[in-house]
Amino acid sequence: MGVSKYGGVSAVLLFAICACQSRASPTGPRKALGRRQASRFNPDPASGFDDPTVDIADPSFGTAIAAGYQGPMASYENHALVGPVDLLRSGQLNLGPSPNYTLPVYQSTALSNETYWWIVTDSSDEGNAQQLGINFSPKLRFAAQGRTLNGLTAAEEVRIVDNTVGGRRGMVDFSPVRNIVPGQSSPFPPAHVQPGSVGDEFYTPLIQLTNGGGEIWNAPIIAGDVTEDYLNQFCDGIPSDMLEDFRSKVHDQVLAICPREQTVTLATIHGFSFGKSVLYLIADGSDPLPATLDGGTYSPRLGALPTGGDDALFSGVERFFVCTNGYTDADLAPGAPNNETHHPWRQGLDSSILGEGNALNILGAIPTVAYDYSPLWNFELYTWTNYSIENGIRTRLTAEFEVLGMAAAGYVTDPNGDTLSDAKIINNCPVVYRYL
Ligand SMILES: *[C@@H]1O[C@H](CO)[C@@H](O)[C@H](O)[C@H]1NC(C)=O
Ligand SMILES: *[C@@H]1O[C@H](CO)[C@@H](O)[C@H](O)[C@H]1NC(C)=O
Ligand SMILES: *[C@@H]1O[C@H](CO)[C@@H](O)[C@H](O)[C@H]1NC(C)=O
Ligand SMILES: *[C@@H]1O[C@H](CO)[C@@H](O)[C@H](O)[C@H]1NC(C)=O
Repeated sequence: MGVSKYGGVSAVLLFAICACQSRASPTGPRKALGRRQASRFNPDPASGFDDPTVDIADPSFGTAIAAGYQGPMASYENHALVGPVDLLRSGQLNLGPSPNYTLPVYQSTALSNETYWWIVTDSSDEGNAQQLGINFSPKLRFAAQGRTLNGLTAAEEVRIVDNTVGGRRGMVDFSPVRNIVPGQSSPFPPAHVQPGSVGDEFYTPLIQLTNGGGEIWNAPIIAGDVTEDYLNQFCDGIPSDMLEDFRSKVHDQVLAICPREQTVTLATIHGFSFGKSVLYLIADGSDPLPATLDGGTYSPRLGALPTGGDDALFSGVERFFVCTNGYTDADLAPGAPNNETHHPWRQGLDSSILGEGNALNILGAIPTVAYDYSPLWNFELYTWTNYSIENGIRTRLTAEFEVLGMAAAGYVTDPNGDTLSDAKIINNCPVVYRYL
């Protein structure tokens, strides 16, 4: 068992470091500032880590007191209260301009006798999730339903053999090169998308353990039939001259992988849940567009899962709100404070397709906020109406109920101008961290 960062005196110090890292960029000019000055918002446009609602100002901003004087955040005492919380605890979060997460990597042999490499992020079993430091998702228990055209459910039934997964059939082809071509009149919908990895008809990240209580585990495959020696070359990252080869064998979100230390480092993605900025991973998507945008594996089999049920009885999914036409950086007028070039309300697929950063999607429930978390996010696409755009109503939304309210009032619609609805897309995005 690892050392808990939530107990003991040294844990208080560790917390102080974590809180500080999440409130002010650990890189760039702010690191060098004294404690008093740290409460000045001082973006570093070169770092890209300069979003005033994601990179939240120090709580002592606008007061006469020094940063840290108010004591620890309330989440230190109770994870449901405001403050940073490590949700996925099986590995190490590295905060920075582009935060990443290092977690255990596992190796198994497929039914075909090929080797494959995988991670574990969520379980429908609460005790095992706690023991392993992964996310507990009660809704995952209902994910082994639906049928593909070939009669497959969204979870593959496997057995535990010698403490690992035996007989997995679904595999991933990592050889495609990820590509997205913006649309002509607006970046979304794109003219062309090609996911960087594609699962076969049997591949799903979800496995159901037939001799392990029938529980469902989120176990995405992140590298194909490659040797340990090959992967050990990437313990410290990916040398640029090997990038192309690496990407043809490994998931696009992997930044480093080190079988000799049994770890893999994945990029994280910024989003919001009920007004809180959060980080999550993307592993897979049931549709080529989101899989391509965020670097996940296109897994058609995930599409077997019934969507549109949100919190209904036996629903395995949770809702996820994705803006199509939020502000892009081009909407920021010249003369912004600090010569800022990033629009502070930037959000959505247009901006993301233009390469300005994550779409800043809005997640429903995450652990510590509600009970209905599922890593299987069911998209609802929302589009600001012309009226909202022309009259300055358009803004950045950060919570599910804001989207629902704006949709009910008619300020946002689905991309066709109709009422908000289920886009029938599932993304597998395990949550990692809550900033507040
Ligand atoms: C992960 O993030 C940390 C902090 O920004 C950074 O120093 C490190 O290089 C990153 N790791 C990889 C493999 O990119
Ligand atoms: C996998 O290996 C086992 C043991 O060597 C062998 O019996 C089996 O036929 C192999 N399966 C395939 C699909 O090659
Ligand atoms: C903004 O840019 C102008 C022109 O390059 C420069 O003179 C000024 O110092 C910059 N201001 C800040 C706050 O960086
Ligand atoms: C909204 O504005 C765009 C761009 O001006 C235009 O092409 C479109 O037809 C308008 N839509 C409606 C429903 O008026």
